Amino acid sequence: MEKNNTPEIKETKARPFLRWAGGKMWLFKHIDLLLPKAGYNNYHEPFLGGGAMFFSLRPPHKVFLSDLNSDLIATYQTLKAEPLEVIKELRKYKNEEDFYYEIRDKKYRNSARLAAKFIFLNQTSFNGIYRVNLKGKYNVPFGYRTKEFLEKENLLSVSNALKSAIIYNGDFDLAKDNIKKKDLVFLDPPYTVSHNDNGFIKYNQKLFSLDDQYRLSKLIDAVKSKEAYYILTNAAHSIIDEIFEKGDRKLELKRTNLVGGTNAQRGHTKEFIFTNIDCADSGGFSAEKGCRPVEDDKMPLDYFNSARY
Ligand SMILES: C[S@@+](CC[C@H](N)C(=O)[O-])C[C@H]1O[C@@H](n2cnc3c(N)ncnc32)[C@H](O)[C@@H]1O
Repeated sequence: MEKNNTPEIKETKARPFLRWAGGKMWLFKHIDLLLPKAGYNNYHEPFLGGGAMFFSLRPPHKVFLSDLNSDLIATYQTLKAEPLEVIKELRKYKNEEDFYYEIRDKKYRNSARLAAKFIFLNQTSFNGIYRVNLKGKYNVPFGYRTKEFLEKENLLSVSNALKSAIIYNGDFDLAKDNIKKKDLVFLDPPYTVSHNDNGFIKYNQKLFSLDDQYRLSKLIDAVKSKEAYYILTNAAHSIIDEIFEKGDRKLELKRTNLVGGTNAQRGHTKEFIFTNIDCADSGGFSAEKGCRPVEDDKMPLDYFNSARY
């Protein structure tokens, strides 16, 4: 029987419960191949968003999750602490246009209501982008989606997966204080520049500037000096290459871009992954095979088609 805040959790694996721009489920299906054979200690994800990497890895030790978006982080914290209250609120909701706009305009103080509102709008809106107007008000229109917005079992599994995580709101640089030797730091920042050298883009609530990219590069220097591991994903762009060139491993991934939008073109986009986990230390790669995956079918080779170590 479910008691308040001590729900019985069915053994289902928690999946991301939000649609989030820049979410990279496609990539994270393979990224565990990069991880150190010998394992890692604590896990840090300071650009949490929809948390696809965290949910995919389910790190075994202490976990630090953070993001600059305070509404997002409040939702994670509330889901961790009081999942049944959030579900109870969501049960009252209807995936209907008038109701959507009614909820979008509501101002709540109660944490469960706020979290339910965030999840509901995210699931039923036009797209997964978190966009606010100049006054900071969420302004994404209704989505006419038919998918069920309340996935109760998954929300309970998510809450369970978050139980031991330390979740906080703030700039990525705050992560530095908690990083220790052999920890893993996963960095998935917003793009500053678009792929294929197309110039600057602006799809986020607040533009992630080139200065931010340089600050991130400094954080990576700190990670390395602490002898911890990092994995960074970023747009394949010459300036990104320049900023993050540290003599570490760089993988270039090609992907068919199915996302439309004003600047996006259908075709191939390239992403970079930078990491200081070298080929010989990565569980899924073989130095003898020229740093290719140990089992070729595990990772489509055209994803990892050019690499520098
Ligand atoms: C590309 S998204 C991360 C996507 C995530 N990996 C996923 O699976 O959904 C980048 C995230 O960085 C956050 N962000 C933007 N600027 C930040 C900053 N200065 N410090 C920390 N987080 C920031 C955004 O709120 C956004 O959630």
